[in-house]
Amino acid sequence: MAYLVLDQLTKRFGNWTAVDNVSLTVEKGELISLLGPSGCGKTTTLQMIAGFLDADGGRVMLDGQDLLAKKPNERGLGIVFQSYALFPHMTAAENVAFGLEMRRIARADRDRMVADALKLVGLEQYGDRHPRRMSGGQQQRVALARALVIKPSLLLLDEPLSNLDAKMREEMQIELRRIQRTVGTTMILVTHDQSEAMALSDRVVVMNKGRIQQVATPQEAYDHPANAFVANFLGRTNLLPGMVGGGAGGTVITVADSVWPVAQPMAAGPGALAVRPEKIGFVDAGGLSGTVLARVFQGTQWLFEIETAAGRLMVIRQHDGSPLPAERERVMVGWRTDDMAVMPADREAA
Ligand SMILES: Nc1ncnc2c1ncn2[C@@H]1O[C@H](COP(=O)(O)OP(=O)(O)OP(=O)(O)O)[C@@H](O)[C@H]1O
Ligand SMILES: [Mg+2]
Repeated sequence: MAYLVLDQLTKRFGNWTAVDNVSLTVEKGELISLLGPSGCGKTTTLQMIAGFLDADGGRVMLDGQDLLAKKPNERGLGIVFQSYALFPHMTAAENVAFGLEMRRIARADRDRMVADALKLVGLEQYGDRHPRRMSGGQQQRVALARALVIKPSLLLLDEPLSNLDAKMREEMQIELRRIQRTVGTTMILVTHDQSEAMALSDRVVVMNKGRIQQVATPQEAYDHPANAFVANFLGRTNLLPGMVGGGAGGTVITVADSVWPVAQPMAAGPGALAVRPEKIGFVDAGGLSGTVLARVFQGTQWLFEIETAAGRLMVIRQHDGSPLPAERERVMVGWRTDDMAVMPADREAA
């Protein structure tokens, strides 16, 4: 059985369903991200796991135990928020020690555990500092040490890096990944930053309007988005309307003057084909024909806009010296069928 199980977890505020039947399993030691736009229910989901909000339906099982039946402070979870929420009058070491004192851990053990936790986050020299004399990144490391020192069965992180500037955020992403690998703690990270989720997570959970859209490894979700929402949320994509039907060799989708095999079983009818700009190339035959509307030099790459009978397409080509079409040239574009995703039209707006 999975380590953590969310089973049809639901939360309503009045007649607004903030979290709608969310089911998910997380393996021990996994780092999983809840990813989605503002208001999609990420924090609400986390707060129900933490016990700061009561669920209106569903269950949460952690290591075989019913988590929702326990009080928040009996759940043994570590929690890190966007604001560091450190005690300003306490030093870094005192902040980290706080949770251990509450648990009545003996002084000698406590000192050793605090030192270990500070070392883990790279702050062994900073135990005596007060938060106001530390940078945002350092303060967030203290918050992380404080959450980890109790050896939580699960660590919940809600936008822990969003208060940091871009450079610090990148450093902390690498740091967080290293710490997670070192301690092996199961972590749920909430973020609305798709690159952060992709860089850090074993799997991403893409949410929209309180519902899970897809659970997959970052690469799987990027390469094979379950629907148009996921395709658009995880980077730039081209979404081409087409018609799904049976061909001689199996199911195909017809997009304007081109025909593409569909790997998964799908009913005939309107559909959409999603393909990333960097996966499209210029081909001699067997592709979708169009005209180059614009071609923009971006240093390491060229950005093309192609007008086709299925709509406008964005194409990215590396600036590696290979010949590329000029503006107003007639072209044909194509891609590997492994690099496209096909979805029913009604799931476009999911
Ligand atoms: N206490 C509350 N009362 C009423 N509505 C709430 C409450 N808390 C959250 N909501 C609503 O529930 C929805 C989900 O909120 P939630 O905080 O979970 O979003 P989020 O995904 O964490 O967004 P963000 O990225 O902005 O933090 C939102 O529409 C929000 O307005
Ligand atoms: Mg939130």
